[in-house]
Amino acid sequence: MNPKKSRVFSGARPTGRQHLGNYLGAINNYIALQEEYDCIYCIVDLHALTTMETTRDLRQNILEMAYDFLAAGMDPQKSIVFVQSHVPQLTELHTILSMVTMLGKLTDLPTFKEKARMQPQNINYGLVGYPVLMTADITLYKAEFVPVGIDQAPHIEFAREIVRSFNYRYNTNCLIEPQMKVTKVPKVLGTDGVQKMGKSLNNHIELAATPEETQQRVMTMVTDPQRQRRSDPGRPEVCNVFSMHKVFSSPEEVESIERDCRSAGIGCVDCKKLFAKNLNAHLAGFRQRRTEIAARPDEVIDILQDGAKRARVIAEATMQEVRAAVGML
Ligand code: TRP
Repeated sequence: MNPKKSRVFSGARPTGRQHLGNYLGAINNYIALQEEYDCIYCIVDLHALTTMETTRDLRQNILEMAYDFLAAGMDPQKSIVFVQSHVPQLTELHTILSMVTMLGKLTDLPTFKEKARMQPQNINYGLVGYPVLMTADITLYKAEFVPVGIDQAPHIEFAREIVRSFNYRYNTNCLIEPQMKVTKVPKVLGTDGVQKMGKSLNNHIELAATPEETQQRVMTMVTDPQRQRRSDPGRPEVCNVFSMHKVFSSPEEVESIERDCRSAGIGCVDCKKLFAKNLNAHLAGFRQRRTEIAARPDEVIDILQDGAKRARVIAEATMQEVRAAVGML
C-alpha cells in the first residue's frame, strides 16, 4: 500500500458470477481506480446474510465473484482484495458505532424501508444495522473515497453522520468522514430492455458465459418495440441493443448501425449478431484468464487470506485508536 495515495474502499455483496451490469456498473471502475488510489475491495459476506434465505451457495458465490474480479484485472499486488468476515475487528467497530447511531434514523432510511417491504417475514436486527456495518467497513480502513452507485448515497451520507457523532462524542478525529465517488455509468438494462440487469430477474448476461450462451442471450434482447417488421425503420435511441453497441462496438460500426437501423437497412437479428460477436471478442481475454483462475481455487483462497491479513493490520491500528478514544481499558 502506498501511503501517499488516497484510500478507496468499496464493498460488494457476494452475488456469484458477475454479469454485464456488474461489469459496467462497478468492476470496470474498481479496476481503473487501482492506478490512482490505494484500493481496498471487500466481498461483504456479512451484509449478504441480512437478506439470505439460505447460505448454501455462499462459499461458492464468494469464490465465483473473486474469480471474476481477479480475471477482470483486480490486482492483489496493488490492492487489497478480501472477504469481510475475515477481519473480526469489523464487528467490534460495528458494535461501538451502534452506540452513537439513533435507531429511529436507521428505521427511517428509505433503503431499510425498501428491504423491510421486500422481506416482511424477516425484518431482522442485522437489516436495521446494515448501514452501521457499512460505516464500520469504510472507517475501519480509514477510507476517504467510496465508489458506489447512486443508490448507496443515503448510506454514505449516513456514514458521515455516524462518524461525526462518534468523533464528537469521544472528542477524537480518529475516524474519517468518507466521501462518495459516484460511478458514472448508464443504467445497464437487462435483456428485457426495461428493467435493470440483475440475476434475480434472469435478464442478465454473465461475463463467464460461453460465446454460444452469450449469443443465445443476446438474441433474446428486446429491441425497439415499435419495430415490428424487418422493413420498419428502427429508433436506435430507444433500443437497448444499440446502447450496448455504443459500449462494445467501434465508432464506425455504431455510426453505420445507427444509420442502417433508421433506414431499415439492417434488421434487429443482424444487429444483435454483430453485438454478440463484438461482446464475445471483448470478453475473450477475460474468459481465458477466468478459466485459468477458476481451475485453481486454492490460489484464490490464498489471495483472499493474504488480503485479509493485510486488512487486519490496518484494522487493528484503527481499533487501538478507537478503543483508546472510547476509554476502554
Ligand atoms: N451496501 C453496498 C451494496 O449493497 C455494499 C457495501 C457494504 C459497501 N459495505 C460497503 C459499499 C462499504 C461501499 C462501502 O452495494
